Amino acid sequence: MDSTDSIIEKDRAYIWHPFTQMQTARPPIPIVRGEGVYLYSEDGRRYLDGISSWWVNLHGHSHPYIVEKIAAQAAQLEHVIFADFTHSPAAELASRLIAILPGAMSKIFYSDNGATSVEIALKIALQYWYNKNPKTVKSKIICFKNGYHGDTFGAMSVSGKNDFNRPFQKHLFETELIDPPLKGQEEHSLSQLKAIINKGTSACFIFEPLILGSAGMIIYPPEGLNELIRYCREHNVLTIADEVMTGFGRTGTLFACSQLEEKPDIFCLSKGLTGGFLPLGVTGCTEKIYDAFLGPELQTAFLHGHSYTGNPIACCCALASLDLLLKETCIQQRKMIAEHHKKFCQIVKAHQKLKRCESLGTILALESKTNNSSYFQSIRDRLYHFFLSKEILLRPLGNVLYVMPPYCITSQELTFIYDQIILTLEEIL
Ligand SMILES: Cc1ncc(COP(=O)(O)O)c(C=O)c1O
Repeated sequence: MDSTDSIIEKDRAYIWHPFTQMQTARPPIPIVRGEGVYLYSEDGRRYLDGISSWWVNLHGHSHPYIVEKIAAQAAQLEHVIFADFTHSPAAELASRLIAILPGAMSKIFYSDNGATSVEIALKIALQYWYNKNPKTVKSKIICFKNGYHGDTFGAMSVSGKNDFNRPFQKHLFETELIDPPLKGQEEHSLSQLKAIINKGTSACFIFEPLILGSAGMIIYPPEGLNELIRYCREHNVLTIADEVMTGFGRTGTLFACSQLEEKPDIFCLSKGLTGGFLPLGVTGCTEKIYDAFLGPELQTAFLHGHSYTGNPIACCCALASLDLLLKETCIQQRKMIAEHHKKFCQIVKAHQKLKRCESLGTILALESKTNNSSYFQSIRDRLYHFFLSKEILLRPLGNVLYVMPPYCITSQELTFIYDQIILTLEEIL
């Protein structure tokens, strides 16, 4: 290999890609530039990014405002150890997040991605009870049967058991599983939660609010979740909202929990936090939780950290993304996307090949009628390649096709995606 070899040749020689069977995968598409909703490939094509590059991008690729802020911050201070030191972007971002997070959030703990924000939330909840009483029996974690919280060991433990984490089952810790409170199943879900909590050993309950993303964009109404959180609160069980996917406007409100009457004790954020530019995770908690870690001894402190905790460039990037997110133009764009999705659902909902078509804010989900809803179905690959051939990036989850675009998408671009979806209903499904 030398410097004249192509991106593909070097990639083939040296790279192991995520979620990819390297033996059978087609060569990856080399992307050389991003602008707005488009990704430009080396061979001169442009792909409409309909999934915001794994749900991270909010304002379009390489947004000039964010680029400028990142460049200025990199020239000022690129990184500094975050124990015993601090800096303006981290302090400013924490104060702005606390101001907009639902409920009574009080403190922000930084990390690098969604899975680490979840690991930290779980560790904070477990240590909260330990700090209160080292002999506590409150050590069990309640979660949804088919939830997804990331690929590290703690996050895998509290996620659904499936082909992705099967090889590690022996090493995952035990959890207490309940069904999500889907419409009409709220009572069932609540009675499962009650039976578990009444044993007295539950430390916390972690959930994806209003929509289970990786499980297939399964949307559920707020009422049942309110009941679950309320029961947890009344019985001294901490609640953790994993808003890694739902945060920053995806569900029609700034956070999915903004639509709940009951608010969680702990929040996990990542993905859209930086507008899709840089990795950053946040775990937020209430004053009550933070207080339980205070004392004269180091042992009661939260002894956790990462080399890049509170990275100034990532925090500055998140501040720039927040500036754009809260602008009236962006709010109107999110409304426009939500309305278009709703209208499209009305049009195709009754299609004979569809089991469901629904939307939540800027997320649209369509599920085809197939006997098997596994991620590993061939229908998933056929759909994926069909859309790529139309220069649209959509990555179905098994037989679930979803659209989660950057907020700068136009109504014409949305219509183009919808038209291709209608074509798949005729030609592929
Ligand atoms: C709800 C939820 N939590 C956590 C994660 C993990 O985030 P990351 O991939 O940044 O580790 C994801 C990723 O898709 C997610 O959807």
